[in-house]
Amino acid sequence: MRLIYIWLAWAILITQVIMVACKPRNNVPAVIVFGDSSVDSGNNNKIATLLKSNFKPYGRDFEGGRPTGRFCNGRVPPDFIAEAFGVKKNIPAYLDPAYTIDDFVTGVCFASAGTGYDNATSDVLNVIPLWKEIEFYKEYQAKLRAHVGEEKANEIISEALYLISLGTNDFLENYYIFPTRQLHFTVSQYQDFLVDIADNFVRKLHSLGARKLSITGLVPIGCLPLERATNIFGDHGCNKNYNKVALQFNAKLEKMISKVNKELPQLKALSANAYDIVFDIISRPSFYEISHKKNGNEEVIGDVKDGFVE
Ligand SMILES: *[C@@H]1O[C@H](CO)[C@@H](O)[C@H](O)[C@H]1NC(C)=O
Repeated sequence: MRLIYIWLAWAILITQVIMVACKPRNNVPAVIVFGDSSVDSGNNNKIATLLKSNFKPYGRDFEGGRPTGRFCNGRVPPDFIAEAFGVKKNIPAYLDPAYTIDDFVTGVCFASAGTGYDNATSDVLNVIPLWKEIEFYKEYQAKLRAHVGEEKANEIISEALYLISLGTNDFLENYYIFPTRQLHFTVSQYQDFLVDIADNFVRKLHSLGARKLSITGLVPIGCLPLERATNIFGDHGCNKNYNKVALQFNAKLEKMISKVNKELPQLKALSANAYDIVFDIISRPSFYEISHKKNGNEEVIGDVKDGFVE
């Protein structure tokens, strides 16, 4: 399974996100998360899928070295973002029975690893489709209203920061793997199809009271470890075609976001461009002091050769 190590980029994106919230820390009472493995904090533990990460070495750098169901060695991006806003240190998964509505008042995660904008993507590994994440969110709103009262709940819902991060699986686990979508859509048409779903998703969230949204576009998906490992004829460099597809998708997503910002009252949606940051990290890891162990010694990873990653 693909592990998407984008938390570092996300940590940098905090700055961008702070700009969308625009105001002091205490104006974000909660962080609410939708998406895939890049932000899932453990929902897949509780559903009937093979796509889980509740075993070691996942979580080895998390508190207590616990594999929580985050597809990561430690915390995932929303955890860092919530901490930066002074909200809380970790965003709990909605389906985790260790947490109650009392914990969710300040933030909750509905994300599910392996999901996508396309219903057919979540079907591949039997994970939570995006429409179902919204159903859980509606259920959450009802519980929140019962718990803190109508007025306070409305305030939390409208002032909360919503983080949305998905799309990679639509291309890499669905479109390029199975013939079904390729038979019906060119890549460009499939991008439009996904952006249309994202557009509806934003409208739905807005109609439910959400106002501050950060939507993360695609990272250089052609540089993910499995893509490079299988790029035998490309000398294990990044898959340039996949990266191009990601950039095109991001451009369409950004256009949609600026459109809905104009159309929907009080909406402040931000397109979080993770592509450039991740690409930079991949291109010059030494600048970020990223190291690996070689013959038992910690060694900073050298920058890639000119033109190797394009
Ligand atoms: C995805 O499935 C849900 C539930 O069946 C449905 O309401 C929705 O229209 C579907 N989305 C698309 C884009 O087909």
